[in-house]
Amino acid sequence: MNVYDTARMRDILAPLGYVSVDTPDGADLVVLNTCHIREKAAEKVFSDLGRLRPYKQAKVDAGDGMIIAVAGCVGQAEGDHLRQRMPIVDIVLGPQTYHRLPEMVTKILRESGQNLFLSDTDFPVEDKFDQLPMPTEDGPSAFLAIQEGCDRFCTYCVVPYTRGAEYARPALDVLKEARHLIANGARELTLLGQNVNAWAGAAPDGGDWTFARLLRELADLPGLDQLRYTTSHPKDVSDDLIAAHRDIPALVPFLHLPIQAGSDRTLKAMNRGHTADEYMRTVDKFMAARPDLKLSSDFIVGFPGESDADFQATVDLAKDVGFIQTFSFKYSPRPGTPAATMPHQVDEAVKSERLTHLQESLMATQQAFNADCVGMEMPILFERPGRFDGQVVGRSPYMQPVFVEAPATALGQILRVKVIGLGGNSLHGALIDAPNQQDVA
Ligand code: 5AD
Ligand code: SF4
Repeated sequence: MNVYDTARMRDILAPLGYVSVDTPDGADLVVLNTCHIREKAAEKVFSDLGRLRPYKQAKVDAGDGMIIAVAGCVGQAEGDHLRQRMPIVDIVLGPQTYHRLPEMVTKILRESGQNLFLSDTDFPVEDKFDQLPMPTEDGPSAFLAIQEGCDRFCTYCVVPYTRGAEYARPALDVLKEARHLIANGARELTLLGQNVNAWAGAAPDGGDWTFARLLRELADLPGLDQLRYTTSHPKDVSDDLIAAHRDIPALVPFLHLPIQAGSDRTLKAMNRGHTADEYMRTVDKFMAARPDLKLSSDFIVGFPGESDADFQATVDLAKDVGFIQTFSFKYSPRPGTPAATMPHQVDEAVKSERLTHLQESLMATQQAFNADCVGMEMPILFERPGRFDGQVVGRSPYMQPVFVEAPATALGQILRVKVIGLGGNSLHGALIDAPNQQDVA
């Protein structure tokens, strides 16, 4: 989502004459789009700001200036404190106010020399998405935010506080942005939301659509070949959604469905709202609907009160499901969340040990799946040239990088490939389809 938001901020600043550059050296404006999900991510903002200080000083010494804006969830959570701790910060914004960035930048420029500080971390009544221009990206794979915020209140998580309550964009807006992205070359769309499958929205015909209905409508758009969505909550998986995976060929056979932990005691303390068994039954239903479906997940180890047996349940469940991609983290206490003040916080050393153990086990499953892929045929979306002449790199439906010898005309296309070998964490393939010459990216 932050990648998406960053692109939107770039688009909304373009009319003011700003273009992206690769280094803060000499930049007129630096926007840090930040993450508050774990302490490490939040602390990174302060070290990044420290590194920006000499660049800003150099601009000031040259009689010029550098506006520094902190956007994203650290901006939302820290607000005016950021300026107190880091006086080089000129603007603080949250994830729901970044459409006001041009106004704030203009004001600072107008009153330059006043050492103005502006902060705006409202949850505004106007629709941010109505204020944003159409995206300018033109790659074969595009993000589309359809939902924001979260009402689930997992006890460890800051998202409901920083991104705010669940909000679903109207279906008509989603379809309009999708058509625009496809016209600009997108073959694949990834629908984004903190709890994307909780989307339910106003339909063009005046009624309401479910998330599954939205998927069906998007899949019917001419020119769209692949559809993904992330991140889903197991409690918001409906039978309707499972049926969509059975019926819609454009839906890739890959789903990110975080479980976080395998023990019912831990899941309950996390307020996830489901048991391990309920999760497994949801997985079974998905597999029955789409037998080639594979899953990825997020895990938290060392949640308060997690015993060795609870942790072992996580390792066992992960092996049972056979996740092919995973993101695993040590529990990080976040200010203002219920879990931060729970008793029986787990020792850092125990968390580290458990994380290493879990990751070894998860990696073994992932590598076994990569090995199973050799010999398979898959549609590959080609995104970038390889390091060698005549090589292009694509992505499989399962998000594996695939290296293939193919002409550059393959870029931007989805072509059938036979997997012929394994790389470190990638696959090697041979083209089955010839690239379409008309469709040069
Ligand atoms: N500590 C560790 N991991 C966390 N996540 C969310 N909050 C925390 C936290 N306080 C993880 C969850 C979530 C992912 C985006 O980040 O696994 O699914
Ligand atoms: Fe955070 Fe996801 Fe739980 Fe919402 S569902 S509170 S975003 S972990």
